Amino acid sequence: MQIPFVNLRRQYEPILADLQNGLVNLIASNRAVGGAEVSSFESRFAKSLGVKYTVSCANGTDALEIVLRAWGIGVGDEVIVPANGWVSVAETVVLLGATPIFVDNHAETYNLDLDLLEEKITPSTKVIIPIHLYGNPVDMKRLMRIAASYREIRVLEDCAQAHGASVGGIKVGSYGQAAIFSFYPTKNLGALGDAGAIVTNDHSLVEHCRAIANYGQFKKYVYPILGRNSRMDTWQAKVLSLKLPYLDAGNLRRKQIANYYNNAWKNLPIQLPKADKNAVWHLFVIQVDNRDQIKEELIKKGIQAEIHYPIPVCRQPLFQKFRHPVGYPNAEQQASRVLSIPIYPELTDDEIEYIVDTVKTVIEGVAITNQPGR
Ligand SMILES: Cc1ncc(COP(=O)(O)O)c(C=O)c1O
Repeated sequence: MQIPFVNLRRQYEPILADLQNGLVNLIASNRAVGGAEVSSFESRFAKSLGVKYTVSCANGTDALEIVLRAWGIGVGDEVIVPANGWVSVAETVVLLGATPIFVDNHAETYNLDLDLLEEKITPSTKVIIPIHLYGNPVDMKRLMRIAASYREIRVLEDCAQAHGASVGGIKVGSYGQAAIFSFYPTKNLGALGDAGAIVTNDHSLVEHCRAIANYGQFKKYVYPILGRNSRMDTWQAKVLSLKLPYLDAGNLRRKQIANYYNNAWKNLPIQLPKADKNAVWHLFVIQVDNRDQIKEELIKKGIQAEIHYPIPVCRQPLFQKFRHPVGYPNAEQQASRVLSIPIYPELTDDEIEYIVDTVKTVIEGVAITNQPGR
């Protein structure tokens, strides 16, 4: 059996006919960037999250940069980010001339460790960027309480891996002053190419972000602020609108698979993911000894396991000067031990059984061959 890490062919099966019609209509509409299709997706997406506004853009990394630019983040400002997560979060901070301040990841939730947050806050802290890593929501109620006790600290939620996750019945993306999403094709809600969005309830931020994403113009051909081009293609908006109605069912199926894996593997010598009950299981990440060997064995048996991520962001050479000398023990340990097992709604029951059995056999086999004295 061959099980890829994502299966786009199956993912698109239910909407293929609609997509084909959509493409014909799109060409007939004479519009390929922006337009009514994009505005329609923006409203639907905002509604699905319970926020007022979505500003679409070209990808999630641009979304991060656009919000930070709109907030005027630059030289001398500090932005708190998780020690491990996705590289473009810290990259964007550095691009703007600001300083990323890394906070270690929690040993069990993998998210930014809220117990360590306050010791990193200084008078220069302007923004905290929590990532809902692997689809597991950060405790946003607690984080917002901490942030609110400091003047002038804003929270920008990174929901790129957590479409539809919630905390206390409220969707992530609606807690911070703003949030960003990526619709990279592998995400829980993925486009057929790159796309991203900013969501917020702040109308003035919306205007500012739209202008930045459109060359800095509020009015056509007048450029009062420094902007760039970051727009969503009409086609990607069409794809996303067609897929949005499937998101909740897909997330539910992910959760069922995660429960099944967790139960089936509870006696293995591995650390299973400890996620919130409202996680959306973008990834199923275990921690295991001899990780690289196990990954190789799984791939030999047709299971495309992956590593998210092998080198923690804080250890990337690019960020050397921003690292704290005492280091980030959880981020370091996780990077050497994490292994992502395929999890997505389109996995068949037979494939899930195959994954469950194969992971068991491989992990038990590798544990025996690596026993001391053998
Ligand atoms: C947590 C996180 N933030 C931001 C991004 C950036 O999104 P994009 O690839 O659309 O630029 C990603 C993408 O993988 C991500 O996983």
